[in-house]
Amino acid sequence: MATPADLALPALELEWRDPDGLMKLKTVFQCQACGFESSKWLGRCPDCGEWNSFVEERQEAPAAGKGRPAMSAPASQPRPYDQVDVTEVSRLASGIGEFDRVLGGGVVPGSMVLIGGEPGIGKSTLLLQVAHLLGRAAGAVLYVSGEESERQIKLRGERLGVAGSALYLMGETSLERILEEVDSVQTIYSEKLPSAPGSISQVREVATQLLFLAKGRGLTTFLIGHVTKDGSLAGPKSLEHIVDTVLYFEGEKHLHHRVVRAVKNRFGAVSELGVFEMTGSGLTPVPNPSALFLAERLAGSPGSAVVATMEGSRPMLVEVQALVSATSFGTPRRMSLGIDPNRTSLLLAVLEKRVGLELLGDDVFVSVAGGLDVDEPAADLGVAAAVASSFRNRPVAATTALFGEVGLAGEVRAAGQAALRIREATQMGFRRLILPARNVPEAGAEGIELVGVNTLDEALERLQDAT
Ligand code: TYD
Ligand code: MG
Repeated sequence: MATPADLALPALELEWRDPDGLMKLKTVFQCQACGFESSKWLGRCPDCGEWNSFVEERQEAPAAGKGRPAMSAPASQPRPYDQVDVTEVSRLASGIGEFDRVLGGGVVPGSMVLIGGEPGIGKSTLLLQVAHLLGRAAGAVLYVSGEESERQIKLRGERLGVAGSALYLMGETSLERILEEVDSVQTIYSEKLPSAPGSISQVREVATQLLFLAKGRGLTTFLIGHVTKDGSLAGPKSLEHIVDTVLYFEGEKHLHHRVVRAVKNRFGAVSELGVFEMTGSGLTPVPNPSALFLAERLAGSPGSAVVATMEGSRPMLVEVQALVSATSFGTPRRMSLGIDPNRTSLLLAVLEKRVGLELLGDDVFVSVAGGLDVDEPAADLGVAAAVASSFRNRPVAATTALFGEVGLAGEVRAAGQAALRIREATQMGFRRLILPARNVPEAGAEGIELVGVNTLDEALERLQDAT
């Protein structure tokens, strides 16, 4: 038992020299959306335009000699260009194929990865699975959660079949405590930003401290950040430039599959994509996403077209659906999910003017089946075909797929990586592919008929051809 005497604190000696009374504890108002600082509270941020986003924050001047720790990574020296070593960094495969894929082929030791996504989408699940596997492959992993207790994490782990790896759990919200602990753990660990006290300066401070630690000691760090309703990472939009890699969970919570996309990657290609399925025992990789996205297609129904699109370096077949129906009153509605609405408007205009579809009195709804976002001009032909098919109430032949960009003059323009798209369509059992004439390879392709077209009109003429 501690006696009152034990608890007595040593008298604090404060030396306070401030003859002019100039040194005051400074408070600033900071925009929680973009980090803009102001000395007064403002209703609207002059920088990013967000309303009601200012919060008073205290700024502490660093005590003398206690600034940021210098990065203790090997000190840099200018080096001749020719002598820079470019041998591939050795990556660590987590063993979850789709996760390694978005990272560009595995975890880069010493890197810092931010994983964002809406609450409930599966961030904690994925990271616990990854932590478990890395714990097996690479040594101690510390999993810190500012949200859940160790018990909660373990309960999830039991569902995921996590057992027998060098995994340590810690439910902790104090950065200082986490840093202390990390000093005594060897290799990789994962982190979680405290979400509730997540004011922008807090979040940035936490991430920066972890970054110093990670870079200094060569630790690989994963951070989880929540995404707010409008799609930005809560507060830590400013983190994106601190970390090496940013991964986002995409898609709908109520669907079974989850798409993880790299939006920034210092060690690999961006817009690389990993597809998972949420099952009763965690996230399982989906190595053949085309099959998943086409699984529920009602082949032979009007308004459905399959487009051979590229996601990063990966070809993928997705179904574009359209519904055209007479407007019952007022102005026609146009809605587009998974395809940029501006792109859809543009295509509708081209369909009216160049092909002569009279869509003016119709509502038009366009959507990518499965909740995927497709932002590639080569999907144009798929959107146009789906709309035309619904308008004319004539299905696209079930074994026909398409790709190609549509220009304002109604011309069909070539798209990149045609060979990969052709191969994917063939592998998925399609027997005809409508594509830009300039993309038709000289050697032709086996097992699939390639229909090269120059105009949108031509493409739409050939939608129903039988094979
Ligand atoms: P979670 O990883 O907690 O989401 P986040 O950390 O992004 O907020 O995932 C929560 C959802 O996933 C929850 O609705 C339950 C579901 N889930 C499964 O379907 N199977 C599982 O094995 C696990 C662990 C969760
Ligand atoms: Mg979580």
